[in-house]
Amino acid sequence: MSRLWKDSVQDQHIEQLKRTEKVPDHIAFIMDGNGRWAVDRGLPRVAGHKEGINSVREIVKASSNLGVKYVTLYAFSMENWRRPSKEVNFLMDLLLRYLRDELDELHANNVRLQAIGKINALPKKVQQQLHESMEVMKDNTGLTLVLALSYSARWDIVRAVQTAALDVRRGKLSPEDITEDLFSTFLQTKEFPDPDLVIRTSGEMRLSNFLLWEAAYSELFVTERFWPEFRKEQLFEALDDYVGRERRFGKTSSQVNEQVQQSVKDKILNVFRK
Ligand code: FPP
Repeated sequence: MSRLWKDSVQDQHIEQLKRTEKVPDHIAFIMDGNGRWAVDRGLPRVAGHKEGINSVREIVKASSNLGVKYVTLYAFSMENWRRPSKEVNFLMDLLLRYLRDELDELHANNVRLQAIGKINALPKKVQQQLHESMEVMKDNTGLTLVLALSYSARWDIVRAVQTAALDVRRGKLSPEDITEDLFSTFLQTKEFPDPDLVIRTSGEMRLSNFLLWEAAYSELFVTERFWPEFRKEQLFEALDDYVGRERRFGKTSSQVNEQVQQSVKDKILNVFRK
């Protein structure tokens, strides 16, 4: 029997964050520092990846309980293929095991699984398991878990440009019709909202070719913690910081405040209209 996450004792911090009504719809994670976490403990680098899976489990569960709609995990970048083959093989085995072992629990908790990246570059058995898991969970309506695998944002942008260019050549599209919104529909992330928050562990201040188009207006949160020690308390810390931020999308602070006041007025009026 798979455990139902909602049945676990509800965390006060989760309730407190939910009350702010500012929990992000989409959080994207750059899970960095597995190797350093292991080396600091005199362990082989791969031990950090193994421990990182426990963080993945805890973060997915906490995000679901918080009501986050999308979580994207940068699990393997296109550049990661350049690592020693032993480490790459270990990561692929870990991914395969994660997909197999977590399927029932993710499914029981209404999680939908999606993937972005050059999926056909993955070992065949990983591709098969990934497709099987996505198929089983395809109608679920809870958290959408997006795994970025063999992913490169520049690769996806170039792929999108090529697809749009082909449509232009075939006469299906005219260059003037290509707007930001239309261009987004050519990206693999077309179905998902842009991330509200990008969290990176292990202190590095960069995006590392992750969701470059989609993260244009995302809030960034960088923590010194390594991924294997990034657990739900650290997620809450990032969200406490996020809910206190003002997202202006290029507007002035007073414009944003007016907008907030207007939406409160609209909500009150709607209550009276009902
Ligand atoms: C970066 O740490 C992490 C990775 C390249 C892999 C992340 C993978 C996992 C957490 C496990 C698999 C994930 C899923 C979703 C099944 P690093 O090795 O670059 O660390 P370093 O910068 O300290 O060397």
